[in-house]
Amino acid sequence: MQRDPIRHALITGGAGAIGSRLVRRLLADGAISVTVVDDFSSGYAWLLPKDARVHLVRGDVCDLARLVPTPEPDTVVFHLAAFFANQNSVDHPTDDLHTNGLGTLATLMWAADHALRRVVYASAGCSIAGHNIDAPIREDMPVSLFLDTPYQITKALGEFYCNYYQARISTVRCRFFNSYGPGEVPGEYRNVIPNWIWKAMHGEPLVITGTGDETRDFIFVNDLVDGLVRCGSVSGASGEAFNLGTGIQTRVRDLANAILAATGSTSAIQFAPRRAWDHSLRRQADIGKAREVLGLAPAVRLEQGIAETVAWFREERSRIEETIGAMA
Ligand SMILES: NC(=O)c1ccc[n+]([C@@H]2O[C@H](COP(=O)([O-])OP(=O)(O)OC[C@H]3O[C@@H](n4cnc5c(N)ncnc54)[C@H](O)[C@@H]3O)[C@@H](O)[C@H]2O)c1
Repeated sequence: MQRDPIRHALITGGAGAIGSRLVRRLLADGAISVTVVDDFSSGYAWLLPKDARVHLVRGDVCDLARLVPTPEPDTVVFHLAAFFANQNSVDHPTDDLHTNGLGTLATLMWAADHALRRVVYASAGCSIAGHNIDAPIREDMPVSLFLDTPYQITKALGEFYCNYYQARISTVRCRFFNSYGPGEVPGEYRNVIPNWIWKAMHGEPLVITGTGDETRDFIFVNDLVDGLVRCGSVSGASGEAFNLGTGIQTRVRDLANAILAATGSTSAIQFAPRRAWDHSLRRQADIGKAREVLGLAPAVRLEQGIAETVAWFREERSRIEETIGAMA
């Protein structure tokens, strides 16, 4: 597999949970410059490493052409800026369309106009196939016209735009499954793992919306970031879609117990009705294509990943508290 090193990168949404880890990885790999474009709506400057090679540009991704008028010619763009995620989009569908729809179009237009090396697009494993599909989900499964949330619709829209722009610029569509790890601050619209770790640390109940037998495919953020870097650097990935998951399903009730064990918490597990839009009983990525073409090999098992995430929460407790306090 041919891999070309990434010398210059621009990450939209680079101050977010995944973007901030991607910045670290690219620097560790020897990147010359990493430009972060972020409006800090759900990202935080303190998540970013202090390094002279990191250039922070504050603003709306829809204004990318104005914000970054002269990018380095061989820049790889990682387009991660998004209005996150399903429930947020149900509550605020026009904000979702603004960032996830127009923001993706603006990124592709700008990258194509400057003939940049590649755009790696953060799509979602919950998009594309819809909920009537049996796990494991493969990249070549048919696209559903019956998606469950505006977020899923706009993530799919971004893929349509990537395919359209492929004639002018190399694009790779990455379908993330459930990412977790250091860097994700809990919040109303955030993922289950950070929210449950925080609740467990505070002795509050972990509420399962459903029966607890639902499954998800949880991938540790460093493994996901490894997949992203491969999507940016493997020449044969151009024009393709890849599932970035582990291929392993975890029951939601097992996840709750794993978090209680890792935090040493005696929090109760409670049950509430499934959210109205959430029809997915099983989620599991088929990662055969990502293994073959990208060499993806997720290495971190759930227990280890949760332990590392809990360690980060303990280390950053006061900054997380301040951030949550500022959001309230
Ligand atoms: N976390 C997951 O499990 C998961 C799953 C599937 C897909 N994804 C996708 O991966 C990407 C990164 O997710 P994340 O978990 O790091 O989310 P995140 O919310 O932590 O990161 C998104 C970043 O985008 C920034 N942003 C939002 N709107 C913006 C705008 N208009 N202009 C500029 N910046 C803006 C936010 O401030 C934030 O830093 C997103 O595109 C998301 O949809 C994530």
